[in-house]
Order: sequence, then C-alpha cells, then structure tokens
Amino acid sequence: MTSARPFPRDFLFGAATAAYQIEGAAHEDGRTDSIWDTFSRVPGAVINGDNGDVACDHYHRYRDDVALMGELGLQTYRFSTSWARVQPDGGAFNPLGLDFYSRLVDELVAANIKPWLTLYHWDLPQTLEDQGGWTNRDTAERFRDYALAVHDALGDRVDIWTTLNEPWCSSFLSYTAGAHAPGRQSKEAGLAAGHHLLLGHGLAVQALRERDPNLNLGITLNLTVAKPVDPTRPGDVDAARRIDGQFNRFFLDPIFRGEYPADVLHDVAGLGLDSVIHDGDLAQIRQPIDALGVNYYHGELVSDRAAQHPLPGEAPTTRVVHSPFPAADGVFHHPQGLNLTAMNWEVQPAGLTELLQRVDREYTGASTTSLYVTENGAAYDDVVSDDGRVADADRADFLTAHLGAVLDAIDSGVDVKGYFYWSLLDNYEWAWGYAKRFGIVRVDYGTQQRTVKDSGHAYAAIIRNRSLVPMLTE
Ligand code: FCB
Repeated sequence: MTSARPFPRDFLFGAATAAYQIEGAAHEDGRTDSIWDTFSRVPGAVINGDNGDVACDHYHRYRDDVALMGELGLQTYRFSTSWARVQPDGGAFNPLGLDFYSRLVDELVAANIKPWLTLYHWDLPQTLEDQGGWTNRDTAERFRDYALAVHDALGDRVDIWTTLNEPWCSSFLSYTAGAHAPGRQSKEAGLAAGHHLLLGHGLAVQALRERDPNLNLGITLNLTVAKPVDPTRPGDVDAARRIDGQFNRFFLDPIFRGEYPADVLHDVAGLGLDSVIHDGDLAQIRQPIDALGVNYYHGELVSDRAAQHPLPGEAPTTRVVHSPFPAADGVFHHPQGLNLTAMNWEVQPAGLTELLQRVDREYTGASTTSLYVTENGAAYDDVVSDDGRVADADRADFLTAHLGAVLDAIDSGVDVKGYFYWSLLDNYEWAWGYAKRFGIVRVDYGTQQRTVKDSGHAYAAIIRNRSLVPMLTE
C-alpha cells in the first residue's frame, strides 16, 4: 500500500461545469438562442440530435446541486454564465438572467464554496453569430461589455474571474473543423476567431482590472503534450511542432509574450491572420493575469505518416467535420497503447505533470500568474447496480492518478494552486449529446435524480483528508 500524500495547505479542490451543458431552461426568463441551440438543431451535427433545452435542469435545481457540492466538501465551484441568458440577442442586459447567477452565487457563498466564474464557455448569442460571430472584431468589444455587466451584478461576491474557456475549441474546433457550434469550416475563419477571442480576453481583463484592481483575473486554456512518434525523424518532429504551435503556443505566446510564435505565423501565412491583427492588439492581449487555468485530458503522439490503427477522434456525427488545425494537413495521430476512456482518449497522467512543468518553465514561472488545473476528468460507460450504486472504479482511478500527477508537479517546484474535476454532474457533452458521462455525480435524465458515484465519494475522502488516500478499490 502506498502512503498518504498531503496537498499544500492552500490548495483548492473543486469541480467544474458550464452553463449550456447543465442549465436547461433554454427558453425561460428571456434567454434566447445561443450558437449551441442553433447548432444542436442542425441535422447530423450532434449525436441523437440532443440539445440543452433541459440538460440537468440546474436552472431550477441549483439549490440542491449546491447542497450536493457541500456534501462532497468542494471548496470551490467553477461554472460559466450564459451570454445568451445575460444579454439575449446581444441586446439589452436581462435582469432575470443576471438574477439567476446572483442567486446561485448567494447559495455558494452561504455554503462556503468559492464561486469561480467563467464568462465564456462557448455559448455566443446567435444574433452575434449572425453578425459574423468571432470572425467579427466587434464581438471582442461586445464581450468586454458583457463582462462588465456580469461584474456589475456579481462583482461584490465573486472575486475569481475567468474570461474564456478553451479558446482553441471556440475558434478552431468551431470555425475550422465545424465540429462545434457554429459549425463553420474555414481555416481563415478559425484564425480570425482565435485572434478575436484573444483580443476579447485582453479587453475584458483590462476593463475588469480598471473596475477593481483586487480581482483575480485569468483565462483557461486546453493544452496538450505533443510528442513525435520517432524523435529522430524530422517529419515526426515537425508534426509535433505544428500541433504544439497550433494548439498550445497560438494562445500562450500572445497572452504571456505579446506575440504569435514565428513558426506558426510562417505555417499559416496566406490564411489572412495578418489582416485581422491590428496595431496594438498584441499589447492589448498581453495583460498581466493572476490565474492560468490548464485543462488537460490527454497528450498526443504524432507523425507525418499515417497510423496503421488510428483511434477514432471526434464524435461520430453524420455531418462531416474537417481538421481543426489550419496548417497541419499532413499530421497524423498515433495511439500510444495506453488505457482508453469512453471518449477513446488515452489515460496519460504523466502528461499532466510534464505539461504543468513546461508551462511553469516557459510562461508562468517568472510571473505572478498562478497555475490551476481547471478541468480534468474522464467519461466511462457507467453501470448502475440494482441498489442504485455506480461503482466507477475506473473514474476514481483516473482522478487519483491525475491528482498524483499534480502532486508530482508540485514536488518538482511548480506552484499549482488547485484542481477542478470535470465534471460535477453528467451533462451535455457537446457533439456527443448525452452519450458520454463525465460526472462524479450521476444524473438520471428521465427523473433528474442525482446519485454520487463511487468516484465522488473517493474525491470527498481526498478533500476531507487533504491528501491522496489509498484507493477505495485497493
Ligand atoms: C472540455 C470542455 C468541457 C467538456 C470537457 C470534456 O474541452 O471545456 O466543456 O466538454 O472538455
């Protein structure tokens, strides 16, 4: 048996969700369509045609859900506000929408759970998409105005603000691959969206900082560890460089260095990025931030040669999707032979340690920015036993292994200040609809009953002990 490993005293344990994935109430209290409402209606875009109309009905059940967080012992809860609920059609701000988040925050504060607010987890008001969405520079300014309106309503009780969740997804996966809303499929559009998202981040950080210098401001990026199949083959090394560049450095470098990486600019030359970057944009994007959220699910092994048995990647929708990468057409992913989750994602906890060390070394270490793992989790095909129990040892193992990887990073000197499991609840997994379950709490979508899975009990024990305890399954 391994001995217990303690976490630092100020380390925060939390869980994460996002508005469209859990709230439901899609047509209530003035909310209008976001791009996800529209996209979920596109034939073949989402498995089973599922949508977020009801989801986990969290809009009506938030009190019970916060009580559940309290039972699990969560110290912090990462949620997002829905832009389309707060500012229907991108027009006037909606007091009823803001009031929902105000009540949620009150409930969290009363339960002694720190609200960790994300302003944009992919649900752009459809009306703004109709005006060009993130390919339109104006959307960045609209985002700043929206951020200030949410701050006006909640800033007295929320002090941790994340601008964007995973801008790689809301640009390249959404405007180039077309796998996510709004489903556009253009390399130029993905690049323009990526730049305008970064600009929106910079504008919002500056405006919020001017409102209140004491806020904790940051952004969440999904990052990966890209390795060449054969480190001695130039083609493989170049494949890894491209994925690292177009996944990680496209976002990290502007935020922390005020520039796009030269090799990425070279790769995407001719795709219009130059024309959307205005003078001063990069200085605007490079705002000091207090927190960098790292979302990590798995790493990648890549080559310029095709794999014999590639792992299926995106959701098997009937609507065709493209590669999300604007300049990696000859890059192929290879399986590493690791265990798989139900998403076909390889379980690679050591990648998280390596990633945190790299981000610390190359970007945040010399700054005042603290690192948090703002998402990490796994979907498995849960089985409910006759007595209602979900004995998800696989998810509990995943959670424990990744918390161990965080401790490894801390032991090596990286200042990681918290971890959020994705997700608190089973929920709407985007193009996968309700087919994939990531929760430490099971949701029965027929009855909306919540059941804490074994992984949830394991997490609660870890939080209680503030240390990695030997597994329940051992
Ligand atoms: C991340 C998203 C989150 C969820 C997990 C599984 O990319 O931020 O909403 O879908 O993946």
